[in-house]
Amino acid sequence: MKNIIIVSVVVSLVLIGIIYSYVGNIIGDDMVNILSMLAAILILGITVGVGVKYVNQMKNDTASGELADENWDGIGEYKNDLPIGWAVVFLGTIVWAIWYWFAGYPLWAYSQIGEWNEEVATHQEKFEEKWSNISEEDLSRMGEAFFSVNCAPCHGVQGDGMDGKAADLTKRLDASAVEYAIRNGSDNHLVSEYMSMPAGLLWNAVEIKQVSNYVASGFTGIGKDVYEANCASCHGMDGMGIPGVGANIRTFTPDLIKAVLDNGKKGAIGSMPSFKGRFTDTQEKAVSLYIEKLRKGEL
Ligand code: HEC
Ligand code: HEC
Repeated sequence: MKNIIIVSVVVSLVLIGIIYSYVGNIIGDDMVNILSMLAAILILGITVGVGVKYVNQMKNDTASGELADENWDGIGEYKNDLPIGWAVVFLGTIVWAIWYWFAGYPLWAYSQIGEWNEEVATHQEKFEEKWSNISEEDLSRMGEAFFSVNCAPCHGVQGDGMDGKAADLTKRLDASAVEYAIRNGSDNHLVSEYMSMPAGLLWNAVEIKQVSNYVASGFTGIGKDVYEANCASCHGMDGMGIPGVGANIRTFTPDLIKAVLDNGKKGAIGSMPSFKGRFTDTQEKAVSLYIEKLRKGEL
């Protein structure tokens, strides 16, 4: 018995010491912290006290009462009534479990994420109301602010892709990106969920180089013939794309930016994450305008 008490006291003191070493510096003279620390010590004391009491009882107790008929190798059971408290708690647990699953926490509880989503939705509605009719000039200025927060971390403040970390938005497509699309195909839902570009439309390395340079340099130079024979049927003679058939590979249009923002984009450089649902229509339009200006060098 004595040993148990000594061990418990030592363990308690060690625990208190550990807690104090972690939180001691924030206790200071803040009343609430001091009370919490005292309460923690009290709870620890009570726990150790009750534990010692029962360990002791198990050691010394002799049971008495009426034995049940069955016994197993001489080990029997006493006939005891179900303790009322236990029965109430047991039934209560069942009722609570039913409530919990069908009406309680999982379905109806308050959630911070829910509140955040609601607040964002309300804010975006107000945002749309306030800004949906502003001039293109102001939109593009809004786009700049929007771009520097959301896109510049990867694409760079100038939109140049920071040495290949992300796509260079000052031109529509890099020759290497076009080449990558021809060799690997493209399936970024740029046009629709169903239309993708198959790999292997061209195999001749010289032709691939020529047409990639032609597209990347804004549809000038050699490669025009290869383009018109192999690509124009889907992308259009001028590369502006055909709705539902081929993507615009000449300029950034709001539709194209929206598709990239919604679906993300995988390509020669790597992956751009999807921003689906994050931005309002006005914000998407603003950033598209801004990117178009970056591409044209109008800034
Ligand atoms: C069968 C129709 C079809 C043909 C032919 C075709 N494309 Fe495409 N291309 C598409 C579609 C559809 C997409 C959009 C795929 C996607 O959603 O990622 C696309 C995407 C691209 C892209 C990627 C655009 C981007 O923004 O990443 C490039 C580059 C491209 N095509 C170049 C070419 C070139 C060059 C040729 C000719 C050798 C060609 N395509 C022939 C249908 C076609
Ligand atoms: C986590 C980094 C990251 C962020 C943030 C990011 N992008 Fe991208 N983005 C990329 C990468 C990487 C690519 C190139 C994918 C590829 O290999 O074709 C890309 C490609 C693009 C393209 C396609 C360019 C082309 O010619 O094919 C557009 C458009 C684009 N991003 C716009 C945006 C806009 C607008 C934002 C801000 C709302 C943004 N990105 C934020 C990484 C990012």
